[in-house]
Amino acid sequence: MTISEIQSEIIKLKKEKDICILAHSYQAREILEVADYTGDSYKLSVDASKAPNNNIIMSGVRFMAETCKILAPQKHIYLPNPGAGCSMADQMDKQLISQIKKMYPDYTVVAYINTTADLKTICDVCVTSSSAVEICKKIDNDNILFIPDCNLGDYVAKQIPEKNFKLLSGGCPIHACVNTDDVKKAKELYPNAELLVHPECTPDVVALADYVGSTSGIMDYAVKSDKKEFIIGTEISISEHLQYMCPDKKFHYLTLKLICPNMKATTLVDLYNCVKGVAGEEILLDDKTITDAKKCIDEMIRLG
Ligand code: 13P
Ligand code: SF4
Repeated sequence: MTISEIQSEIIKLKKEKDICILAHSYQAREILEVADYTGDSYKLSVDASKAPNNNIIMSGVRFMAETCKILAPQKHIYLPNPGAGCSMADQMDKQLISQIKKMYPDYTVVAYINTTADLKTICDVCVTSSSAVEICKKIDNDNILFIPDCNLGDYVAKQIPEKNFKLLSGGCPIHACVNTDDVKKAKELYPNAELLVHPECTPDVVALADYVGSTSGIMDYAVKSDKKEFIIGTEISISEHLQYMCPDKKFHYLTLKLICPNMKATTLVDLYNCVKGVAGEEILLDDKTITDAKKCIDEMIRLG
């Protein structure tokens, strides 16, 4: 089958089977084209709770599908490729954070949404890269334990110097491996381009950026900007999507190290097989996990 034949089948089947497809912006172009909703992790979590369909396929990684299940427990939520995890979400578990919480009893525990549902059950507030600064400002406590990403945590802490942040040494191994030499090389190659980076990059890389934001933030900025050339400091799929959206502008990868194998794991055929009901995993969480994890996601929606 060709790509367009598979896409037509997916579109036909999803209508017949009352399926809504959500796709994170890091997914392949051919997947985004058949999705009902696309965007960053915050937007998708809100879209999941509002979608009228009984069945939701989350084309992205496991923590995103778990977030959909927490927000819409009565719905069937599927992850097309069960192997699509997130290296950052897998770094910290409930046992570790319970121990650390005991060391900092007066701190509000803020969890980046890139965490497991199990870990969210013991956290106070969830944030995404697009909502972290706003939410941390609004939290009624000056002491914040920010997990797991120390780069995003450092970025947020610098915007709110009046608060006291404790960070742990976790983060996204893909974004964290970009260094200032990569930036120097890219700026030498493309001296007229603006540098747009995700806050999961290290502080020294973030300090050199013209704009710092979530995947949607980067896309919105580039689309609306009068500038014509950009270096994109996040997963390489974003440069590709932007190039389709704005063919008259130029988009360059900051470095080819910015390839997330987990986000690349899901193919259009995985999605097709999931829509057909012959592949993928239904996300099942017990009632207590859903209730406890929902508290910190509800708090994110309330404050964000
Ligand atoms: P966003 O919150 O920008 O969607 O990022 C999710 C992610 O996994 C970034 O690596
Ligand atoms: Fe996780 Fe990093 Fe991949 Fe995002 S880019 S899904 S944080 S491993």
